[in-house]
Amino acid sequence: MLASVYAPKDFKRLRASGDLVARCFDFITPHIRAGISTGEIDRLVAQFLKENNARSSDLGYQGYPKNICTSVNDVIVHGIPSDDCILKDGDIVNVDLTAEYKGFHGDASRMFMIGNVTPNARKLVQVCQDALNAAISICAPGVPLSEIGKTIEAVVTPHGFSISRDFVGHGIGKVMHDDPQIYHFYDKRWDKVKMVPGLVFTIEPMINTGSAECKIDPDGWTARTVDGGLSAQWEHTIGITEDGAIIFTEKMMQ
Ligand code: MF3
Ligand code: CO
Ligand code: CO
Repeated sequence: MLASVYAPKDFKRLRASGDLVARCFDFITPHIRAGISTGEIDRLVAQFLKENNARSSDLGYQGYPKNICTSVNDVIVHGIPSDDCILKDGDIVNVDLTAEYKGFHGDASRMFMIGNVTPNARKLVQVCQDALNAAISICAPGVPLSEIGKTIEAVVTPHGFSISRDFVGHGIGKVMHDDPQIYHFYDKRWDKVKMVPGLVFTIEPMINTGSAECKIDPDGWTARTVDGGLSAQWEHTIGITEDGAIIFTEKMMQ
């Protein structure tokens, strides 16, 4: 059930992979503006990973055709980068990047707001980031996994936004997707499963202005809100330490 438990020496490697993911975000961020296509962002990521001896964990995963996922506006997750998808003023876009470096995976996603974004879209993006940070802050040995979803609900629900239930966070490390599954809503089945030192997983809440329900495009990947409402997501890879949690997918200081 807790497959993704790692030793301290592996934490160093996970830290390095996460640092590389964060640096890749820094590399692409200045380019993410009105007029760029999501296909071009994908190529920038491919270039960065190659230059840094890393590879996309997504490319080829269950036949996935690109290096990253780019989910624009009503797309919840798994938007496929395309030269035909050009970002425009007012868009919100999630870039989700998972990279393998020296045998360990780091998985993170961030939201980008293009030009003038509506106040409600801005709020959606902020509340989602707040929910992720609140969830990370309660993680520590002995804390039930169900506290993650409970914490996210407490941040999101008062704003009237919905939480997607079709996609989960996941254990990660030597493979991209491992047990345990991490729910972004309260599920009492996880009351009895407690975090332990060495456990490595992602938290990646998806929240929506309208319905939580999703539909999948004919491409078999792109998941959108059924009602066309906006969707936001933020993701980090974290590891449980003796006294809390470390965020791997942030830049290392120095
Ligand atoms: N990065 C995604 C996650 O958060 C996984 C991408 S699935 C793929 O789990 F098919 F696009 F690779
Ligand atoms: Co991801
Ligand atoms: Co993930």
